[in-house]
Amino acid sequence: MDILKTTQLTKIYGSGDTAVHALENVNLTVEKGEFAAVVGTSGSGKSTLLHMIGGLDVPTSGKVFVDGQELGAMTDEQLTIFRRRNIGFVFQMYNLIPMLNVWENIILPVKLDGKTPDRAYLQKIVEILGLDQKLSCLPNALSGGQQQRVAIARALAAKPALLLADEPTGNLDSRTSQDVLGLLKITGEEFFQTIIMITHNEEIAQLADRILRIEDGHLTSAGSPCIEDGHLTSGSSPRPEKDRHTDQMNFSLENDAFATQHPPASRHNDAFAAQHPPASRHPDLTPVSPDSSDRR
Ligand SMILES: Nc1ncnc2c1ncn2[C@@H]1O[C@H](COP(=O)(O)OP(=O)(O)OP(=O)(O)O)[C@@H](O)[C@H]1O
Ligand SMILES: [Mg+2]
Repeated sequence: MDILKTTQLTKIYGSGDTAVHALENVNLTVEKGEFAAVVGTSGSGKSTLLHMIGGLDVPTSGKVFVDGQELGAMTDEQLTIFRRRNIGFVFQMYNLIPMLNVWENIILPVKLDGKTPDRAYLQKIVEILGLDQKLSCLPNALSGGQQQRVAIARALAAKPALLLADEPTGNLDSRTSQDVLGLLKITGEEFFQTIIMITHNEEIAQLADRILRIEDGHLTSAGSPCIEDGHLTSGSSPRPEKDRHTDQMNFSLENDAFATQHPPASRHNDAFAAQHPPASRHPDLTPVSPDSSDRR
């Protein structure tokens, strides 16, 4: 069963001579439980694709269906609520709230939705992500890898069916990147979540079930997921359970030798970024009036 479907998805920024065809007629289907990596050169349209899939921006034409629901048919408020309940986002910048501790950051989107956090589920997430000893720390007392793990926990807090990650390891050294990615894969498998992740790193992309290649706004290769008996097997045998646990044990959960933080150049969506200061930019943190949640 597919969790995501795009039909003839097209995004053109600007118009006339200066128009940028960032995405053209992208038809993509992603199955539930799949881990797909999106690769392509800078400016090829990867982030644009993720923003359209996540309902963060509106396509010029074409449609996006998440779990069978068309995003373009929703009002802004419906979309905000749908996103919060069904889609988790992890960006290169962690966008943690500096005055809230790790636990408070993780449960914030659930609280904003007026819901009670599922403590047993979150406890499992923080354990897998190696954050259980850090829950009362403020973000500035954490390494880059730890902060990114908090951002992943926050993205998973509302049990989204779909997790979208835009270069989640772009600020991390290669060892920490592998750790964070491995953990992302483990949580995805554990909770049967679908992950679509942009990366520039081919090694990291190889961890995915499927590689989606974007060139000049066109999807040039979408791999071929293999479904057997309703399970995604990526065209090869499913990995034995014991291997997954071995992988988990091999991750360095307390890798404090984190990379020097390189603030990423503001390369894309500058207009969006300028309008939204970091703390309020993260879509999981968009406030909606309490009574609006009844309108779905
Ligand atoms: N808000 C915007 N306004 C105008 N043009 C934009 C906007 N966002 C992206 N673009 C353009 O659309 C094209 C695709 O951009 P996009 O950010 O999707 O690339 P990308 O593949 O994510 O690149 P990178 O790997 O550098 O992050 C680029 O030519 C970019 O300049
Ligand atoms: Mg990008």
